[in-house]
Amino acid sequence: MEKVTRRKVTVIGAGNVGATTAQRVIETGLADVVLVDIVEGLPQGKALDLAEAAPVVGYDVAVTGTNDYADTAGSAIIVVTSGLARQPGMSRDDLLARNAGIVGSVVAQAAAVSPDAVIVVVTNPLDAMCHVAMTASGFPRERVIGMAGVLDSARFRAFIAAELDVSVRDVRTFVLGGHGDTMVPLPRYSTVGGVPITELLPAERIGQLVDRTRNGGAEVVALLKTGSAYYAPAAAVAEMVEAILLDQRRILPCAAYLTGEYGIDGLFVGVPVVLGSRGMEKVVEISLTDEEKAGLLHSAAAVRELFDKLPA
Ligand code: NAI
Ligand code: 2OP
Repeated sequence: MEKVTRRKVTVIGAGNVGATTAQRVIETGLADVVLVDIVEGLPQGKALDLAEAAPVVGYDVAVTGTNDYADTAGSAIIVVTSGLARQPGMSRDDLLARNAGIVGSVVAQAAAVSPDAVIVVVTNPLDAMCHVAMTASGFPRERVIGMAGVLDSARFRAFIAAELDVSVRDVRTFVLGGHGDTMVPLPRYSTVGGVPITELLPAERIGQLVDRTRNGGAEVVALLKTGSAYYAPAAAVAEMVEAILLDQRRILPCAAYLTGEYGIDGLFVGVPVVLGSRGMEKVVEISLTDEEKAGLLHSAAAVRELFDKLPA
């Protein structure tokens, strides 16, 4: 009988987001996971620890850790979480340049041995790092996608559910734009059991929840003090990985390279897309009010500003 080969998901960066993503993906049982890091022993140790959880949790997929990209060959998906967090005294531009160097180097190495993979970028600044990944891989726009919108929407969903004391499962939200404080949560398209939140909450309260969503990353950092969020980010990446592996054609907000959609050309910006086995299968264009459109263009301008500062 022919042996069935399981699919492989490579997660680059075995830090908080990378290791938690690896855990979530192997727990789905859908694919083997290869965890990569530049630090020797770190991915191997975390992979061994995860493999030793398998008998208890009950997954049969393999998880391995490595410092060698040869082990990642033939991956269906490459998740990029490697990078530095901003250190005291480091400017945003320093961080941009350092992470661009890291993302460019890891993506070039991983893409060379997995030429058909879909790349999911997580490293910040997210939208700019998506450009770096697309350039370094030479992949078409369909196969380079950024994770931010699923996380930002999840935060908005969590806040709305808590406010209305209802299940998070019945709350759907839309967040457009770059991953940063210019992101554009859309209350008109955010619903609870199908009812727009504009019918359920006063405008002032919605405004407060929108602001909390925009600052969702910073709120966690302020509490943790030594790092940023990783449980919700990893859950968001795993949802995208599952949609791609199972060709679910989910409509999820992702950073996608726009070529005229929403009046934006040549930039990665968060928009709803159809996510399936070929990656970003389609950008979904929804109608926006003048105010929403202005918010999206303002957010795109902030992304453009960082993009223009990327090292040539
Ligand atoms: P972390 O510091 O825990 O892990 C980063 C890992 O990258 C470390 O293990 C480090 O050794 C590794 N690394 C650095 N240079 C490398 C290289 N050249 N090759 C391979 N590995 C390398 O950081 P954490 O919390 O996991 O965050 C990772 C990134 O994800 C950060 O840039 C963070 O800002 C971003 N992030 C983005 C989110 C989003 O919504 N897009 C959400 C959460 C985090
Ligand atoms: C977040 O939103 C740090 O981008 C990361 O939590």
